[in-house]
Amino acid sequence: MSDTRRRATFVAPANIAFIKYWGIRDENKVIPYNSSISMTLSRCTSKCTVEFDSARGADEIWFRQVGGDFEPAADAFARPVRRHLETLRSRAGVGGGCRVWTENSFPTGAGIASSASGFSALTLAASEAMGAPPKNAAEASVLARMSGSGSAARSVLGGYVLWPESLDDSGGSSEQAEQAAVQIATAAHWDLRDVVAVVDSAPKAVSSRDGHRRAPSSPRFAPRLEELGARLLAVRDAIQRRDIEALGKTLETEAIDLHQVAMSSRPPIYYWKPGTLAVLWSIRSLRAEGVPVYATIDAGPNVHAICPAEFEERVAEAFGSMKEVESVLLDRVGTGPYETSDHFEGPAA
Ligand code: PMV
Repeated sequence: MSDTRRRATFVAPANIAFIKYWGIRDENKVIPYNSSISMTLSRCTSKCTVEFDSARGADEIWFRQVGGDFEPAADAFARPVRRHLETLRSRAGVGGGCRVWTENSFPTGAGIASSASGFSALTLAASEAMGAPPKNAAEASVLARMSGSGSAARSVLGGYVLWPESLDDSGGSSEQAEQAAVQIATAAHWDLRDVVAVVDSAPKAVSSRDGHRRAPSSPRFAPRLEELGARLLAVRDAIQRRDIEALGKTLETEAIDLHQVAMSSRPPIYYWKPGTLAVLWSIRSLRAEGVPVYATIDAGPNVHAICPAEFEERVAEAFGSMKEVESVLLDRVGTGPYETSDHFEGPAA
């Protein structure tokens, strides 16, 4: 048989969850305890080129921050990538090895889901390069999730996205393993903005993987699951009606709840920094002045301020004048991943 060598490149966005995935029911199949809803972002992206070579022995992983140089990826970054490539090779029924170049357009570990964008881009580029692209968005979502990053299941779609957990509470059935994220509204439906106040860009001390594992040890975990049904409905409904007050109220309650669970897990996890609280207070002041802006916070210290397009500038100005804020990123709802023929080349390639 002749050797095959093929290359593919995808750009995939990060996403910000309005209802958070927190707690993993089955680590092998990446089954969450609860359904989640997110907004796909537009400017915070990962771009990934995969070159598959059936004659190649080992995988080679390169990473760079936009504007920097490609370097061999650190072990902690490369290990899950290699594992995922193995999963994708066995699904595609191929051997061989890959050369992978990944670039993030935003600071990695800044509380923006770099694993979601990174694994979504890797999944799409690698399966294409291996000659076995996903048949549809549902298959892409399941494949992306098998990387171990559950939130990557939502980054393969644009707009507003629901990742449902199975309603079967016996746990771990094959149906659950097939559970894919679905789009519930397009990006064009509602032009929401995400103004990110970066208060600390250092990588977080406790990974979200560890956070998921510890979540059930919190006394707040079970009550939270009880409350989530109503919260999911409220968020879906607010998105359909483009009701920022209703959406904002629920997403803020939800974000604080996730951190209550984290802080009361055993051992506890404190993702917040003093600057986190300062930004939360500034959001309250903006609201008192009539600006409809609401906070959500992932597994990190940085605050995502969600607001309609016309208030973005005002919010960014307020954050920009705070001594606690290192930088402000402006993002917005986006349309999802896309393929490009603009492959990474150069010395490393
Ligand atoms: O996809 P993971 O395993 O990195 O977990 C994501 C966890 C949160 O970002 C805190 C919530 C979410 O749903 O994105």
